[in-house]
Amino acid sequence: MARRVLVTGGAGFIGSHIVEAYLAGGWEVTALDDLSRGKASQVPDGVPLIVADIRSDLARTTVATGGFEVLNHHAAQIDVRFSVERPSADADINISGFVNLLEGAGQGGVGRVVFASSGGVVYGDPDVIPTPEAAPKRPISPYGVSKLAGEHYLRALGGLHGFEGVALRYANVCGPRQDPKSEAGVVSIFVSRLLAGKPLAIFGDGKQTRDYVSVRDIARANVLASTAPLGSGDDHDTRAFNIATGIERSVLELAEAVGRVVGRKPELMMEPARPGEILRSALDPKKAADGLGWRPEVPFDDNLAMLMEWFQTEG
Ligand SMILES: NC(=O)c1ccc[n+]([C@@H]2O[C@H](COP(=O)([O-])OP(=O)(O)OC[C@H]3O[C@@H](n4cnc5c(N)ncnc54)[C@H](O)[C@@H]3O)[C@@H](O)[C@H]2O)c1
Repeated sequence: MARRVLVTGGAGFIGSHIVEAYLAGGWEVTALDDLSRGKASQVPDGVPLIVADIRSDLARTTVATGGFEVLNHHAAQIDVRFSVERPSADADINISGFVNLLEGAGQGGVGRVVFASSGGVVYGDPDVIPTPEAAPKRPISPYGVSKLAGEHYLRALGGLHGFEGVALRYANVCGPRQDPKSEAGVVSIFVSRLLAGKPLAIFGDGKQTRDYVSVRDIARANVLASTAPLGSGDDHDTRAFNIATGIERSVLELAEAVGRVVGRKPELMMEPARPGEILRSALDPKKAADGLGWRPEVPFDDNLAMLMEWFQTEG
């Protein structure tokens, strides 16, 4: 019998790729999404889509009664600025919504919960780059706090209810279906603007770095994390893995790479630095290699090319 998984946020950017990766691995997949940002059209044909808010009774009972072996949780409020303006609304979705689902997981005998955390925010402004999992967690934004709180709930409620929790701390995810209107999607913004012949905005000197990982590699990590044997330990880092390349790329290098792939020299618009922006970020992916057998595989330029193709055909 096929293994059953529920993917929350399954109509969104990352979630829809995860749904596809589970299907390719022979899993029986159900998606749950309130379609606040996701699109039903991004859920593959034949995959049931439950339209529900993760804070609802419907979402909790779906987890509790669906006979799922794995709950894969990607539904979230993802806007850092929104979390700064409305921290209680952010916590309501990202903390209370997740805890609601974890209650359902406890009631339904779910075996494992895979949680989308964020290495870009839980470490804050790290001292060590590439940052390992054991580094201090000093989130700066309410969104970052909500991800860290989610990791703690996962460990504590897993211990109480008997499910295994694994947290995947992503670097900057990019690839097809990334909304260029979202503030996190700098790669997507650059590709869509250059295709439209528009200049690219660079904030500050453009030397700030990020670690860009392909959404296809992220999806593969989720399938691996659903069955890999997990270590035991007494803190939330034990079952947390950075999913990243470990490679720092500056915004200027990114603009150059986008120009190379699109085949057009970008015009750069230099803007003042944004206050509070972290200057360097890259995550150490060694633990995921050892613990999950995961390594990034999609070359950076190939991922940019896939994103460009998506904009040209469907975006
Ligand atoms: N994009 C990145 O670089 C990145 C990095 C680290 C972590 N993450 C995490 O990965 C997950 C997916 O992010 P994404 O970039 O695909 O964003 P996304 O907005 O495309 O996906 C989130 C999905 O959740 C749904 N959703 C939002 N609120 C909901 C609610 N209350 N109930 C039910 N569904 C709801 C949205 O409709 C959307 O389809 C999120 O948990 C995000 O925090 C993303």
